[in-house]
Amino acid sequence: MINVGLLGLGTVGSGVYEILNSENNNFKKLLGKDISIKKILVNDINKKRQVKLPKGTLTTNPYDILHDDDIHIVVEVMGGIDRAHDYICEAFKNNKHVVTANKAVVAKHMDEFLFLSNKYDKGFLFEASVAGGIPIIKPLKQNVRINNISEIKGILNGTTNFILTKMIDDGLGFDEALKLAQELGYAEADPTDDVEGFDVKRKLAILASIAFNNQIDVDSIKCSGIRNINTLDISMFKKLGASVKLVGSALCSGNKVSASVEPLLVNKNSTMATVKGAFNIVSIVGDTIGQLQFYGQGAGKKPTANAVVCDIYDIISGQYKTDHFIQNGHIKEADLDLFNCKYYLRVNTKNISRVLGLLDKNHIQKFTIMSMKNNLVLITDNTSAKSMEIISSQLKTIGEDFSIVRLEDDLNTNALCIGI
Ligand SMILES: NC(=O)c1ccc[n+]([C@@H]2O[C@H](COP(=O)([O-])OP(=O)(O)OC[C@H]3O[C@@H](n4cnc5c(N)ncnc54)[C@H](OP(=O)(O)O)[C@@H]3O)[C@@H](O)[C@H]2O)c1
Repeated sequence: MINVGLLGLGTVGSGVYEILNSENNNFKKLLGKDISIKKILVNDINKKRQVKLPKGTLTTNPYDILHDDDIHIVVEVMGGIDRAHDYICEAFKNNKHVVTANKAVVAKHMDEFLFLSNKYDKGFLFEASVAGGIPIIKPLKQNVRINNISEIKGILNGTTNFILTKMIDDGLGFDEALKLAQELGYAEADPTDDVEGFDVKRKLAILASIAFNNQIDVDSIKCSGIRNINTLDISMFKKLGASVKLVGSALCSGNKVSASVEPLLVNKNSTMATVKGAFNIVSIVGDTIGQLQFYGQGAGKKPTANAVVCDIYDIISGQYKTDHFIQNGHIKEADLDLFNCKYYLRVNTKNISRVLGLLDKNHIQKFTIMSMKNNLVLITDNTSAKSMEIISSQLKTIGEDFSIVRLEDDLNTNALCIGI
């Protein structure tokens, strides 16, 4: 009998409970072992639950799980950083395997968790922490063994993808689309983590750490969200034959790693543009494999719980011992140096010459103006991401309403519609 201790019984935890207790899957038959969820840690023992539990399963004392010698696998699906970190470390020290869906704690403490899992020869798997139901971490680890990965990028947040899809397809403004996402349960009451790109930043840090075999410092990743994108921007993007997506991208060349989370303009006929609503996509480029893409549901009870249960299966069947990546013990900062692209810039300004002066001062002399009616709208020639970052901070300082969106390399802007 394999005993599991669950830390958390919310959306993901109850999905895991349901799958492990379902009569309809081959899981136990294939493993030839029985699995039982012995204890579950929650905040409130009296709360009404989505699943029927045997009496005495719930506890509010983490040590009922972490110090129980009969529990072999701890599944952390409670969220947060500090407590989750402490419980995961304690689980390893008490000879337990760990599975987690918690991107926040993995992005921050991956190196330490890998060190402990190797020290105690236990599995540490976290497939559900990035892109929910999409299997990306396991294939990425497999490909890293053979390939030098030069690029990883993806649409990694269903909430922002839903909002942008509603803005593009149904003509909603940002606030209306956000409200709808909240009403339908796609967005939290406080949507900051999603709309500012922080959630994608954590997921990108995890993916880039594995892809480039160095733990990437999550706080060094530059991040701008989608809050500034308005209906005028959307109509300009349509004129360009483009669609906008919030994308996390990381590049690696030699010892250098660049990473950013920002809105990206992609060709409206590209694969990325067809990723709608709450779906996610991740693409990697390796020197042997070329480009690979992974697509599916990026969140939700069943898809995410499915990823957690796949990790439990791999641990029970011993498929975790090769996880000896990222052990060089230092954390690498990501910069913007490898990004050199065209940018869309819109500034709602009464002082166009001041904005043009700002561009000139930051060595952006080549650009195509799309509009000068109330808003200055232009596309720059290839320019460094650093220059655009400086321009963004200067526009913020002078209090302008503006949006900056990077253009995907293959977006053809030769046929720009110029309507000055
Ligand atoms: N939801 C998704 O689609 C999804 C997708 C991918 C990854 N994830 C990740 O999975 C994790 C869980 O997400 P979720 O949506 O399932 O969260 P959730 O619905 O809010 O559930 C959290 C659970 O953990 C318990 N809990 C939280 N803090 C606790 C503490 N300090 N001590 C004891 N129990 C505690 C809660 O207890 P009570 O029930 O008593 O309040 C609840 O059962 C998060 O890290 C999230 O980022 C979620």
